[in-house]
Amino acid sequence: MRIVGTKQQVRDAVAAGRGEGKTIGLVPTLGALHEGHLSLMRRSVADCDLTVVSVFVNPTQFGPGEDLDEYPRDLEGDASACEAIGVDLLFAPTVEEMYADDASTVVSVSELTEGLCGAYRPGHFDGVTTVVCKLLNIVLPDRAYFGEKDYQQLVVIRRMVRDLDIPVEVVGCPTVREDDGLALSSRNRYLSEEERAAAPALHQALQRGAEAAREGATGREVERVVARALAQEPLFRPQYIQAVHPETLKPLGDEAGPMVIAAAAHLGGTRLIDNVRVEG
Ligand code: PAF
Repeated sequence: MRIVGTKQQVRDAVAAGRGEGKTIGLVPTLGALHEGHLSLMRRSVADCDLTVVSVFVNPTQFGPGEDLDEYPRDLEGDASACEAIGVDLLFAPTVEEMYADDASTVVSVSELTEGLCGAYRPGHFDGVTTVVCKLLNIVLPDRAYFGEKDYQQLVVIRRMVRDLDIPVEVVGCPTVREDDGLALSSRNRYLSEEERAAAPALHQALQRGAEAAREGATGREVERVVARALAQEPLFRPQYIQAVHPETLKPLGDEAGPMVIAAAAHLGGTRLIDNVRVEG
């Protein structure tokens, strides 16, 4: 595996692969890789001839007061994990390499970014779509892999790719969980022992909501079920609990049907998100 830091090195390596008729997979990450990321990489290595992983703590998707400076960084550990899986190229650029000083273009997806996390993290999705668009332009992959844990992000990226005619297949991959149901996240390492013990309550509450949805409950009823279940764990401070349409992300309100039940909640200083999808 090669580790490179410049866009030109990525372009050259990918062009060489293309010259040999290889298909290209991209797994964009913020680093601090865990089993969730590794599952995306395994999928890319299985599907594509050449897998590129980017490790870049993208400053433009962190808001003021968020954890940009504290965000865990471990390039050495990330590189060994990538190598063990069979990743071909690790792209770890600096902020200066990614953004010109006077960069003034933003890729912004409207509507889908207004609710859920978008309502509480102004500018976050503009940062995500701008950097993902740039990474897609740098790597020009056939497929790009994203986790369903960041469900809104996945839907937003699919919309960007469709709207801008970016020639890539966006592949969504299932959330990877600890045995007790906690969704893997690089931020889980911020949790104290007591918070870690409380953390699975978020997924358990969402599952209660999913059961109610399968029995025909409306979006609003489902949200109440989840809120009551989560209130059993007093360490959690919910930010939002919403049952939304899986594609439009509009709140279901008094309607029942297929939905994604998504929640964000603080546990001490750590913000956790999770979701479950309920088919029709
Ligand atoms: O989900 C993430 O890790 C990031 O938002 C992404 C897609 C790598 C963009 O920086």
